[in-house]
Amino acid sequence: MDATKLLFVCLGNICRSPSAEGVMQALVDGRKLSKRYGIDSAGTAAYHVGERADRRMRSHAAKRGYDLTSRARQCVASDLREFDHIFAQDDSNYHNILALDPSGEHHHKVHRMVEFCDHCPEGEVPDPYYGGAAGFERVLDILEESCGALLDQLEAGTL
Ligand code: 4NP
Repeated sequence: MDATKLLFVCLGNICRSPSAEGVMQALVDGRKLSKRYGIDSAGTAAYHVGERADRRMRSHAAKRGYDLTSRARQCVASDLREFDHIFAQDDSNYHNILALDPSGEHHHKVHRMVEFCDHCPEGEVPDPYYGGAAGFERVLDILEESCGALLDQLEAGTL
């Protein structure tokens, strides 16, 4: 069976989506499902292409046992064809991803990350880039809950 391909998307691909990728990969590895899932991340903007995840984000993630190794890349139209599910971290990401597919053929693959989080009154994964330590911790809290629920749904065949 082909692996199910998951893409996490934020703006810069240096804070939220590399963390989502790292959290999801750790969950999948922990449940011995790595052969079943292909996991990647991308940003809607090109500002940080080629860079490692933000140092602050890496440091907060490392304290929870996640090693963020990705290099930033920009989300492109072919991603909507190639991935089975795409997860936008905020509303702006969501609309920018949909705009890459004007025909709408693949819009059903695009989800908001917080659809999988019961404890996220913010309504999106808040951008931590211009804030302090609490913002990075909040990102990880939301992602840990969302990725767990998301994997449960994928395994149950309900997504
Ligand atoms: P991310 O955070 O979208 O979670 O990677 C940001 C990273 C960079 C910028 C904004 C948000 N920036 O403006 O450079």
